[in-house]
Amino acid sequence: MAESEPPTDQAAGSRPLVLLTGATGYVGSRLLPLLQERHVRVRCLVRNPETANLPPDEWTELARGDVLDRGSLDAALHGVRTAYYLVHLMASTADFQRRDREAAENFAQAARTAGVRRIIYLGGLGDESDPKLSPHLRSRHEVGRILRESGVETIEFRASVVLGSGSLSFDLIQSLTNRLPVMICPRWLATPTQPIATRDVLAYLLAAMDLPPGPSRVLEIGGRDVVTYGQLIQEYARQRGLRRLLISVPVLTPYLSSLWLGLVTPATAEVGRHLIEGLRNPTIVQHPQALELFPIQPLGIQDAMREAIEQSQRNRPKAP
Ligand SMILES: NC(=O)c1ccc[n+]([C@@H]2O[C@H](COP(=O)([O-])OP(=O)(O)OC[C@H]3O[C@@H](n4cnc5c(N)ncnc54)[C@H](OP(=O)(O)O)[C@@H]3O)[C@@H](O)[C@H]2O)c1
Repeated sequence: MAESEPPTDQAAGSRPLVLLTGATGYVGSRLLPLLQERHVRVRCLVRNPETANLPPDEWTELARGDVLDRGSLDAALHGVRTAYYLVHLMASTADFQRRDREAAENFAQAARTAGVRRIIYLGGLGDESDPKLSPHLRSRHEVGRILRESGVETIEFRASVVLGSGSLSFDLIQSLTNRLPVMICPRWLATPTQPIATRDVLAYLLAAMDLPPGPSRVLEIGGRDVVTYGQLIQEYARQRGLRRLLISVPVLTPYLSSLWLGLVTPATAEVGRHLIEGLRNPTIVQHPQALELFPIQPLGIQDAMREAIEQSQRNRPKAP
């Protein structure tokens, strides 16, 4: 991405202010340097500024806040033009649906009160009309609906697995495939999904800032290829030179397999359980408007996987 000229003091003061929530999370922490490269004025809403450890920048400020604390949002959203909502509460409580709803309602009300012009949210793919949609995916959709109903223009992106090192879904695939030569998996091995490279998700999130004003929209985004979760695991194994045998059995219940995930991966059993419940649902792009709206050509599975593996190898701590 080309570097833009740094703004003068005066120009910076008149630049629109962007609020970034989830700045310490996987997606938000990768979006922040891209906003900084463009010299965007960013205010990061973080729960713990003392431990947030965000890259310093002249045009970046921190605001202490919590999406469950409405008062903190009023202050954080003051003067904000565009707000990124990159938060989920799956890790903090088993009752995440209620908390995510409460958080989205707080954010929606505070954004409307503050006169925010646009909310940009990254949620999850999945067919809303499917009665078996997992609580996690249903909750991601519910958050999008609440934000859209705020009356503030909302761009809701919906994605499936984000392929990049540090993304929980990629880390799950990596840990499982590295550790288990034979994987006994539930039926979700055959579920189709449309993984997207981190760089493409970030490109969409950035480009959404520059859309001309318009109605709220839901934009489904995905990589070039539709694959099954089994093929995703095999592609990882192929690129790492691993031979892996995947055996699909109907008896391994999602609950049992989440405990199994909890044992063999860095994710907690609780987060793993929510994610794995979603693996039974196809997560593919059915309405590809995003491809028409933005000049972004997402990577296919081989390139996206290669980038994720390379990032992961770069991030690996060096042996002493
Ligand atoms: N990663 C993927 O594969 C993927 C795929 C599809 C969609 N998405 C969507 O992308 C968005 C971001 O996901 P992610 O993977 O970046 O998640 P993540 O790494 O788990 O980060 C979650 C963020 O939410 C913040 N947060 C949690 N509770 C909060 C609260 N009460 N108040 C304020 N902030 C709070 C966390 O801050 P703390 O540091 O304070 O905990 C953290 O910065 C989510 O909407 C997710 O559904 C992700």
